[in-house]
Amino acid sequence: MPRIAVIPGDGIGPEVTTEAVRVLEHLDRRDGLALDLTEETFGATHYLATGEALSDESLDRLRGADALLFGAMGDPRVAPGILERGFILKLRMSFRQSVNVRPIRLYPGATSPIAGLTPDRCDLVVVRENTEGMYTADGTMTAEGTPYAVAVHAAVTTAAATHACVRYAFELAMRRRRRLTLCHKTNVIVQAGLVWSRAVEEIGEEFPEVEVDYVHADAMTLHLVQRPERFDVVVTDNLFGDIISDLGAAVSGGLGTAASGNLNLDGSAPSFFEAIHGSAPDIAGQGIANPAAAILSAGMMLDHLGFEASARSCQEAVAAAIEVFAADGRPMVTAAFGDEVLAHLA
Ligand code: IPM
Ligand code: MG
Repeated sequence: MPRIAVIPGDGIGPEVTTEAVRVLEHLDRRDGLALDLTEETFGATHYLATGEALSDESLDRLRGADALLFGAMGDPRVAPGILERGFILKLRMSFRQSVNVRPIRLYPGATSPIAGLTPDRCDLVVVRENTEGMYTADGTMTAEGTPYAVAVHAAVTTAAATHACVRYAFELAMRRRRRLTLCHKTNVIVQAGLVWSRAVEEIGEEFPEVEVDYVHADAMTLHLVQRPERFDVVVTDNLFGDIISDLGAAVSGGLGTAASGNLNLDGSAPSFFEAIHGSAPDIAGQGIANPAAAILSAGMMLDHLGFEASARSCQEAVAAAIEVFAADGRPMVTAAFGDEVLAHLA
């Protein structure tokens, strides 16, 4: 019985998570998945009441789940960064979620800002290393606030985490179009770049069917806009992955459909599934947030739990709902979109 901790979070998080849970409950009944869903309260209100974004006791409790489904976090009442770092990054690192999988797909009916881009030309996956690089430490500052201030922010790249991420990317490429692109900045960030290139070279020997290439992170932004069809699986470090996945989301019609999975690959802790979008406090409570990314993230979670057929029908139903909404020119209404997805699941 897979135990799933549902964490709606802040802002539009609860609204979009409600729709994702409706879809999960439907698939649970239809396909006999025996999901055990428990709601957990984290986010701004919890932080303001307890002073902790995610205590070690809470972390231990969540460790007992088989997967976490997360809405969004961030609230104007809490200084930026506290919840994001204290919850999202703490989870990723404590639970060794070494890979962040971010599919970038232009769904039929969705509108890309790139003129003439068609769905067949935009279907790739960013595999982002999720625990290292610039995200590892807080850095140090001397002479803060003076003209002599010096900030140092170290980035850590280990062969172990890099290899785990690169191996996952090759395995994924084998199930897709068998193309893998390493995205880095090996011409400037030389040492870390070496760890990445060596990992791709070494692990690539085990996957001779996968065609490998390399693109610098700056050039990547250009190619992603001009020729997204060039990419199948893009493997990259934490910060580059953060940046190019937002760009990819924009190219594929916005953050509304950008889902993600933070995967623990060694079975020591649960994986964590979330829409890439934030809590959007400006539209929270109005029932107009697009729940597609949250529902797609729930679908990725089902896939991760081994329910491949249910996951596929979740994805197909979301794709169908996107097309219906686009064809009718319907404005986004969160619950109505959820209804439409359910209608395609019957
Ligand atoms: C993301 C977000 C996070 C990140 C923030 C909220 C810490 O931008 O998941 O992409 O930088 O990884
Ligand atoms: Mg980001």
